[in-house]
Amino acid sequence: MNKIKFFECDDYEQLSGLVANKFIDKINSIKKPVLGLATGSSPIGVYQHLIKAYQNKKVSFANCTSFNLDEYIGLKKEYLDQSYQYFMNQNLFSHVDIDIKNTFFPVDQDNQDLTYDFENYDKKIDSYNGLDILILGIGNNGHIGFNEPGSSIDSKTRLINLTESTVEANSRFFKSKDDVPKKSVTMGLATILKAKEIVLVVVGKSKKEALLKLKSAKVFDSNWPCTALVEHNNTSVYFIKSEIN
Ligand code: GLP
Repeated sequence: MNKIKFFECDDYEQLSGLVANKFIDKINSIKKPVLGLATGSSPIGVYQHLIKAYQNKKVSFANCTSFNLDEYIGLKKEYLDQSYQYFMNQNLFSHVDIDIKNTFFPVDQDNQDLTYDFENYDKKIDSYNGLDILILGIGNNGHIGFNEPGSSIDSKTRLINLTESTVEANSRFFKSKDDVPKKSVTMGLATILKAKEIVLVVVGKSKKEALLKLKSAKVFDSNWPCTALVEHNNTSVYFIKSEIN
């Protein structure tokens, strides 16, 4: 059964504010909050609202730990500003009081040892008693994190090859498509489903098909990895009315 709660928003500003408030309430209600964070253009507005709330003393990240969803493998040196670690520093971490030592990524940009057992990331999350709240964006092909179509619902954090459509979608941040990394490390679908609360933000008309699949899904369909969320008990999805109708 699909237990997801869907919230139709008027615009990006409203969506970002509502999701940020969810995060603020969660952070303020827990002694040592553990956050799951995503990159991409969709959550930027949420992070801006969180920064404002921090500046207005409505929230502090001092006791927070964060785990990011995914990270590229094999970024060329000239594109290190496209790393997800860089993105998080630019868009959130450097503006708030989070201790950078408590911010984790599934792979280190400076030390990409591909023989590493990436499932240790899941163990590390477990050792923090799991993610209290996780924000997700979504790819045009329904990927969450970098779990591409065909991903197993039992998948843990792992190395993954990006599909042609994801490389194409992400080429907007690179000079040429050839420069886009073809691999990444991502939390798996099982890793994601272990989060106590999940908030998915769907932004952009190109996400319409994926959102409609998610709305109508009754069970997991590996062709649309986002449908794994129907297996979760506490997921909310925020989308913008005019982009979907
Ligand atoms: C990338 C990320 C995803 C993100 C997706 C959508 O592929 N790995 O986590 O959700 O892009 O990005 P955007 O929000 O820019 O559309």
